[in-house]
Amino acid sequence: MIVTTTQLFKVAYGKFAIGAYNINNAEQAMGLFKGCLSSQAPFILQISKGARKYTDKRMLEAIIRATGEIFPEAIFAVHLDHGDEETCYDCIGSGFYSSVMIDESHESFEQNVAITKRVVDRAHARGISVEAELGMLGGVEEDIKVEEGNACLTDPAEAERFVKETGCDSLACAIGTSHGAFKFKGKQSLHFDVLKKIQVRLPGFPLVMHGSSSVPKAEVDRINAAGGKIAGSMGVDPNEYLPAAKLGVTKVNMDTDGRLVWTRVHREFFRDKPAEFDLRPPGKIFIEEYAKFIAHTNGKLGSSGQLPLVRSAVTNPREEISRLAYHLWEEAGRPEGRDTELWLQAELQSRPTHDQVGSQD
Ligand code: G3H
Ligand code: 13P
Ligand code: ZN
Repeated sequence: MIVTTTQLFKVAYGKFAIGAYNINNAEQAMGLFKGCLSSQAPFILQISKGARKYTDKRMLEAIIRATGEIFPEAIFAVHLDHGDEETCYDCIGSGFYSSVMIDESHESFEQNVAITKRVVDRAHARGISVEAELGMLGGVEEDIKVEEGNACLTDPAEAERFVKETGCDSLACAIGTSHGAFKFKGKQSLHFDVLKKIQVRLPGFPLVMHGSSSVPKAEVDRINAAGGKIAGSMGVDPNEYLPAAKLGVTKVNMDTDGRLVWTRVHREFFRDKPAEFDLRPPGKIFIEEYAKFIAHTNGKLGSSGQLPLVRSAVTNPREEISRLAYHLWEEAGRPEGRDTELWLQAELQSRPTHDQVGSQD
């Protein structure tokens, strides 16, 4: 079931974070859904502009729709990662994406506000959530490379003003991470001080952490032992995901870690089987290994085991309650002078919930 990021954040805020994983092909999609179902976690499937161009945006959309049908129990948002204005409009118009990111963080504050607000107006008219970004992460992001010296942490006062002026639903903040496999030179830690200040100014407002891959040393060592040449890599300590979630981070973006799993599996496979040239055997191993990585990461984010809670929250939203209330009121012969919603609340409490019904099957 595809839901908006806003629906997921309402359940997660302050308690756990939702993993946002970048997907480019069928093998990644299969591994992602498998890993999220084995760990019973809701998730955000995110698609970058580069991923949309890799084969064709329609190909990726078809793969994701099909994977959703193969795993009907999954609850996830389909999100555009690092969009520009034109791509956001394309995704909003597609009827497939439930969330878009407009990233104008490289523009002036005023320009960022103006463009983000235009996207928010269009997206909200279609019930789609919008993530925006303020501050600048280091590293490579799509086709934009930000040198270390130009990276800047999000200013908490500006963040408050930005959210008020744009009406965006979540905000990506720069709190010390960067995209790619080389995040820290010295101390490996998030700027919790900045995060705390942002949360004080924006209480209850969902924050997003980009550049969150953990770049596991064991993974990089295996890649290098199988012929890779990755030196000096360092990622985010995954034990910092949950403390960040308690401070309002509801979405944690990871792409690099998935690429590392792919590289390790394929390098080891062809090193050990040099006569092999069938793409399916390593593809199968990748799906299973990626699923394991996803399940493990969901444990670190605290999203493992949260699927039943999210399911009951999204299947009983207010509109659904009103619709049901009307239906039951009609069924009961339209009794007069009764508050149908209150009556329904009592009625629902005496009935098994959606989950209870499901688990009895
Ligand atoms: O933040 C950027 C993501 O890692 C997407 O990377 O543009 O190579 O798909 P990509
Ligand atoms: P990583 O490079 O740390 O995986 O970050 C990915 C990301 O932020 C996608 O938007
Ligand atoms: Zn990013």
